[in-house]
Amino acid sequence: MNGAIARLGVELAERGYDILVGSGLIADAARHLAPVLKRPRVVIVTDPAVAALHLGAFGASLDAAHIRHDCLVLPAGEATKGFARLGRLLDDLLDLRIDRNTTLVALGGGVIGDIAGFAASIVLRGIDYIQIPTTLLAQVDSSVGGKTAVNTRHGKNLVGAFHQPRLVLADLDALLTLPRRELLAGYAEVVKYGLINDPAFFDWLEAHGPALLAGDKAALGHAVMTSCQAKARIVAADERETGDRALLNLGHTFAHALEAETAYDGELLHGEAVAIGMVLAFQLSARLGLAPAADAARIQGHLEQVGLPTKLPRLGQATALPTPARIVDSMASDKKAGDGQLTFILTRGIGRAFIARDVARDQVSAFLAELCN
Ligand code: NAD
Ligand code: GLY
Repeated sequence: MNGAIARLGVELAERGYDILVGSGLIADAARHLAPVLKRPRVVIVTDPAVAALHLGAFGASLDAAHIRHDCLVLPAGEATKGFARLGRLLDDLLDLRIDRNTTLVALGGGVIGDIAGFAASIVLRGIDYIQIPTTLLAQVDSSVGGKTAVNTRHGKNLVGAFHQPRLVLADLDALLTLPRRELLAGYAEVVKYGLINDPAFFDWLEAHGPALLAGDKAALGHAVMTSCQAKARIVAADERETGDRALLNLGHTFAHALEAETAYDGELLHGEAVAIGMVLAFQLSARLGLAPAADAARIQGHLEQVGLPTKLPRLGQATALPTPARIVDSMASDKKAGDGQLTFILTRGIGRAFIARDVARDQVSAFLAELCN
């Protein structure tokens, strides 16, 4: 990508939008925002860490273009994605006297994108929003596709809406300020695209993952663009997840259960849970005779090499290790579960994921029990 700004369309007719990937996008944001604003007024939603690092450049760009802007700063962390904070955010937006032509801007990671996007979908019965994702996870996954949500005590993302953004600006420079642990967590979602249906991309990641994680911008740009292309293709074909979009949940049935068990307390980041979940999905597939055990081992090897967790027992360090029965119960209350049986994304090998809607709870319990012994 070598310094250029790459543009990619999400083909959803009147809800379609562009994703821009490149360097310097936040500092030059107003130029890209102006054409999609209904009037020159935005409310930025962000968190304190992102505000300290990136709000100055963004605000200066808006000032120079005479785009009025207010800013609401929410606490960082998964706990922000709940009803209490959502209620306050909605009131704060109304206190600012927004109207239906005001555009919200989510400047931050997936937590900010998900709650700001959901707020945009319901305030005044729906207003426009723009995603400026500042984590790798948000650039390659959560900012694209219009899924917005908050968590409830029943599990993750159980209350939300499909509400597509008007524009996504993925500024690679933002990734350079990201703590390594957060970069790694996002990397798990990058690997996911290779594992779903792009084995050549997984080969590329095995070769270039370490450079990417060291901040090589050309590698980051290639990975973000390839991931966004994959996600845009799937979303365009199945916006509401009635079919193949569910493939994007590879590793997520396990991940959401693990996150619920750790009460979203920061011990396990979403991307870390996805890394464990993807390895478990491959191991379960191998146990069911569907995929080569060697593929499960190859993925586990790569994720471990870059420093991601891949095993259940690491969970037990700060909190009690969840039991297999508890994990399966959590899975059953996840929205991806059907009646009595679990929906999983299973695989026939690297790049050959498929949706299995009839995985018996007993099979999963037995598989997890074996792993915990
Ligand atoms: P996050 O939003 O919690 O951000 C991680 C941390 O990084 C935060 O502490 C934040 O302050 C900090 N940060 C963000 N950008 C930074 C930067 N450029 N420099 C320094 N620090 C920075 O976490 P996340 O991993 O981005 O998102 C996780 C969330 O995304 C989860 O709630 C998950 O459910 C959701 N998600 C949603 C979708 C979707 O389709 N909507 C898809 C995947 C994940
Ligand atoms: N992160 C899964 C999806 O957007 O469908």
